[in-house]
Amino acid sequence: MSDIIEKIKELKQKKNAVILAHCYQNVEIDEVADFVGDSLYLSQKANETDADIIVFAGVYFMAQTAKMLSPDKKVLLPRLESGCRMADMIDLKQVREFKAQHPNIPTVCYINSTAEVKSECDMCCTSSNAVKVVKSMGEKEILFLPDTYLGKWVEAQLGDVKVTTYPGFCPTHLQIKPKDIIEAKAKYPNAKVLAHPECHQEVVKLADYVGSTTGIMKYAIESDEKQFIIATEKGVVDRLSRDYVDKEFILIKENIICPNMKWHSLQDIYDALDKEQYEITVDSEISKKAVQCIDRMLQISK
Ligand code: 13P
Ligand code: SF4
Repeated sequence: MSDIIEKIKELKQKKNAVILAHCYQNVEIDEVADFVGDSLYLSQKANETDADIIVFAGVYFMAQTAKMLSPDKKVLLPRLESGCRMADMIDLKQVREFKAQHPNIPTVCYINSTAEVKSECDMCCTSSNAVKVVKSMGEKEILFLPDTYLGKWVEAQLGDVKVTTYPGFCPTHLQIKPKDIIEAKAKYPNAKVLAHPECHQEVVKLADYVGSTTGIMKYAIESDEKQFIIATEKGVVDRLSRDYVDKEFILIKENIICPNMKWHSLQDIYDALDKEQYEITVDSEISKKAVQCIDRMLQISK
């Protein structure tokens, strides 16, 4: 075991800490992580843990969500630069304006949003439960933010709910174009195309399966097929290729990378535990309101 990995494990035990890692992280982080998964899984783990410290190897909104679900724990984000470019596309003022333009319609926020934005919304969702969440509300019309593509995908899946979306998007997933899928299918005609619902709807239409990061991984693991074209962030391909060597995973195109997810190194994780940095806090009034919409989601996702 390398020195740094051993040192992190020792420190983790000494401080009763857990490390949660999103599956877009650099793969070496898995060596020290207690849980690796998608946004829903990690928020469930943050809710359940009895550790004193949570180190979140993910992006800012994930650490904020962990703090709101476990207010008595110290939540650390090893690199503060790790924001989500989609979450940063809407602030408190903009969510209020969006709601004022469409009065009296329930608002669903993607978990990829700040605590302030969540505090103005009725219900939260992740990419793995968005359809289930919206269906559970029993509404004819909802507002969805910030991801217009996830919102439109939910609308297409349900067929009987009007989804009015905020014009936010993920710059990483929008790099994937329909022509990339068409070209990849021509090159690998037997491969299944697996896509994240943050992709453009014209991309999603060409996929064999659409789901969250762990949804994509589960599909590929359980399938009898041997070759997969992966239309999401590179971390998913890195993990599948490492763990399932008898199958082939093709990243849809080069550099489908979320730069903010890749900030954390093993050294940053060590420093985070050692110096207990950088602690994430959330205003208690904001948290009180935001946690309600997160809790509603967790209740229906058990
Ligand atoms: P998941 O819900 O699949 O974890 O996605 C989070 C994310 O940020 C995708 O860009
Ligand atoms: Fe945000 Fe996109 Fe990065 Fe996910 S991949 S964290 S949505 S910028």
